[in-house]
This record gives sequence, C-alpha cells and structure tokens, in this order.
Amino acid sequence: MSLGVCESKSQEGPGFPIGWYSVGRGRDLGVGEVRDVKAFDRELALFRTRSGVAVVTDAFCPHLGAHLGVEGRVVGETIRCPFHGWRFDLQGKCVEIPYCEEIPERARVRTWHVSETNGDIMVWYHPAEEPPTWEVPELEELTSDEWSQPQYWEVTIPNHVQNIAENTCDPEHFQYVHRMQDTPPSKVDIADDGRVLHMVADASQAAHPNTLDVTMHNPGLAIVRTIYGPQAEMLVYSTAQPTTLEETHMRWTLTVRREIVDLVGDDVMRGIKAGINDDLPIWRHKIYREKPVFCKGDTSLVGFRKWVRQFYLD
Ligand code: FES
Ligand SMILES: [Fe+2]
Repeated sequence: MSLGVCESKSQEGPGFPIGWYSVGRGRDLGVGEVRDVKAFDRELALFRTRSGVAVVTDAFCPHLGAHLGVEGRVVGETIRCPFHGWRFDLQGKCVEIPYCEEIPERARVRTWHVSETNGDIMVWYHPAEEPPTWEVPELEELTSDEWSQPQYWEVTIPNHVQNIAENTCDPEHFQYVHRMQDTPPSKVDIADDGRVLHMVADASQAAHPNTLDVTMHNPGLAIVRTIYGPQAEMLVYSTAQPTTLEETHMRWTLTVRREIVDLVGDDVMRGIKAGINDDLPIWRHKIYREKPVFCKGDTSLVGFRKWVRQFYLD
C-alpha cells in the first residue's frame, strides 16, 4: 500500500466540449468594430463587417503574425491586418496585399462558424474542425411583447465549462449550497436524438410552488425556465465562453412574462447572482473527478455524465 500521487487541482480534466459557445454580445459590437477574444485557450479576432456580419477568425496573421483583433481594421467585408495591410475576406482568404500583385496560396487565416442568435455571438467548436451539425435554438420570448425587456449579466467563473453545467443538474447541492429546504425531486430525460438534455425539478419552497425546467443543448448552452403558475414564468438563457480549461465566462439573458415583471424582475437577477456566489467557493477549490463515486440518489448527476460524453471525441 502506498500513499499514491497527491490529488490536486492541477490534474487533468476534460478538453473543450463540442458545441456552440458565445464570444460576445451582439449589441456590444458595432459595424466596423474589431476585438480580441480569448476562447478555447486560443486567441481569436472578432469583428463586424460594413454589411453587419459578425466574423470570428484565428487571431494571428499568416504573414508575420500580428494580432488581427488588436488595431486590425474593417474594410468593407474584409479585415485589414494592422502590420502590413494584408486584407482577408469572410472565408479567411487573403484578397489584397497592398504592395504586391501576387497573393500566396497559403495566405489565409482560419475562420470560425458564427451564429448570432438570441443576442449573443456564438461560435462552433469542434476539436477536429467538423462543421456544425445543428443550429443554436432561437428563443421567441426574447423578442416577444408578452415578455419583459431582457436583462443581461455576465461573470467569469474559475472552472471548466462542464463543471458549471453539471451544477444545474445537481439538485442535491441546492439544499447545502443554496440553502433550499429540501432536495427537490428531479428527473433527467435525454431527447430522442440523444443530444438535448431535459431536466425537470419540483423546486417548490413552502407556499411557493415552482417548477424548474432545464434544456441543455451542449455544456454551457442552456435554457432554464422557472414556472410559478399559469402566465407566471421566467426564462434564463445562458451561454458560455470557455476561455481556458480552468476558466469560463458565462453570459445570462433573463426575461419574465409581462404579468409578473413587477413581482420578480430584479429579485430574480439578484437571486441568480447570489446563487453564483454560493457556488464560487466550491468551484474555486474542487477537482475534477472523472469517475466519481456515485450513490443511488445521484440520478440526475449520473444522467448528466452519460449525456456529456457525446461532446468529446475520446
Ligand atoms: S503581419 Fe499581417 S500583414 Fe504583415
Ligand atoms: Fe449551484
């Protein structure tokens, strides 16, 4: 018997899961604006062309490696490198070198699949660079008159995107970390194609009935509905930007049915912020257990772990 290797936070967790991830809010990126972005442990450039298309490319110019997202410039439907003025189109192909007629074949920069949906600029991540196999689901509630003006919030969390997603499918921790009276009864279903996870939990507290209804499209891309009663519903849309394997920037968009806007609007946002603060000390210090010791009561967590495997190649 030996003591073995010391377990620590530095031990390896999973890579980045396949799926759609946000790199910014659409409303924060005007026409002609250029930004540098970090996601998937990579440097990326984000810009909006003159016609309004949001584009994400790898950051570094194939010429001498300048960062296109820092001082790069939008020229029509292209981005111009700040160093020697080479211009790249929406497919990442170099279309102009201002001081040379001939453009080398290899003068191209990788472009990412982008979907600007529900107000967020989303990119498709696949470790083998395969194209998207499904679209980001569009939420009518975010533009409907029957729902309140959306509210926005974002925060950087010191943990892997999978662990943050797992938290939602972990009703057992609600009682200990979020001071709920009991563990809400919950059930996890996986949709027919196996890709979408659906969890329903009865999160009623004393005289306040409420049902938590979570739909997860990939780790970090979730729609959480809280149903207090007929016409009394709240929706939280969450997207994630995994900056590194240890850090994730989360974005939330919240709307409630008009009928209850005066009753729950701001309180709910405060509640979410408080909830994240409750989770932070755990997230900050926990390690990743590839094979946790589960008990029979952990059914939602077991469901989540089975579901999440499909987002990795190995
Ligand atoms: S480094 Fe981009 S044009 Fe030279
Ligand atoms: Fe939590």
